[in-house]
Amino acid sequence: MAKKPYTILIASQKGGVGKTTIALNLAVALTYKKYKVLLVDTDTESASLSEQLGVRPEGRGYLDMLNSNAEVKDMLFSYEPIDLYLIPGSPSEQRIAPKSERLVKLYSKLAHADFDFVIIDSPPGLFSEEVARYFNDVAILTTPDSVSSSGSAKMAEYCRRFKLEHRLIINRMGYSKFDLEREEVERLYGDVAFQAVPEDKIIEESLMKHKPAYMIDRNADFCVAIDELARDYALKLSQSSPGGDMQFERDTKPGLFEKLAKWFMR
Ligand SMILES: Nc1ncnc2c1ncn2[C@@H]1O[C@H](COP(=O)(O)OP(=O)(O)O)[C@@H](O)[C@H]1O
Ligand SMILES: [Mg+2]
Repeated sequence: MAKKPYTILIASQKGGVGKTTIALNLAVALTYKKYKVLLVDTDTESASLSEQLGVRPEGRGYLDMLNSNAEVKDMLFSYEPIDLYLIPGSPSEQRIAPKSERLVKLYSKLAHADFDFVIIDSPPGLFSEEVARYFNDVAILTTPDSVSSSGSAKMAEYCRRFKLEHRLIINRMGYSKFDLEREEVERLYGDVAFQAVPEDKIIEESLMKHKPAYMIDRNADFCVAIDELARDYALKLSQSSPGGDMQFERDTKPGLFEKLAKWFMR
């Protein structure tokens, strides 16, 4: 029996916190590590993934897939510079709420697609209950200024309700002065794993060049953080599929958690 891909939902309660940026670079980082990765843009309102990459979906976008009986392999868009596959977003005037039976059909197809990882970039807000079981992990994104907003804590609670593995990613660390107390995060989120991704000028350059930051400079702070996230997911994949890449070794460099801890102790 073919193995199932490890599916990661990149989610947030608020818009503009970096979902697309992180989903894309995580996908690139995992591709560089020789995993076969599919990145799906399910944000019908902004569909900024295609914009960031300078690609046009032309009839092979997310909504086309959702509304057809096509198989995943017939809808793939290959991002030529590397071996990365996309189902690009379908930009539309307004937010579209797809019918749940359509969503379930799409996600069950994705769950059997021939990939190591499926990364879902999503619109802001809670994902629908019917598809929760298709995710192996939910990355809840937030920014330092809104860590204490109840939205992402509610999302973490929602994940717990479905016994879904999840983590909190605090993006754009260092962008502005803020008071982030570790106890505060723990009080709001319980013992959830959390990771920091720094604010980085490389993102601006990446937008200008229509090229993922990870392909411009893998040593940029942002990319180092993404790399660490990718390693963690690679480890999860090896643990989730017996017979998979079990010789994967955990990196011995200080983890993001330690780096974040240092932040709190400044
Ligand atoms: N770590 C970062 N450093 C600098 N700019 C960032 C970072 N993460 C995101 N951005 C910028 O923030 C804006 C929103 O990011 P985006 O990924 O589109 O968010 P979302 O998909 O959640 O709406 C974009 O202009 C993006 O370039
Ligand atoms: Mg987005």
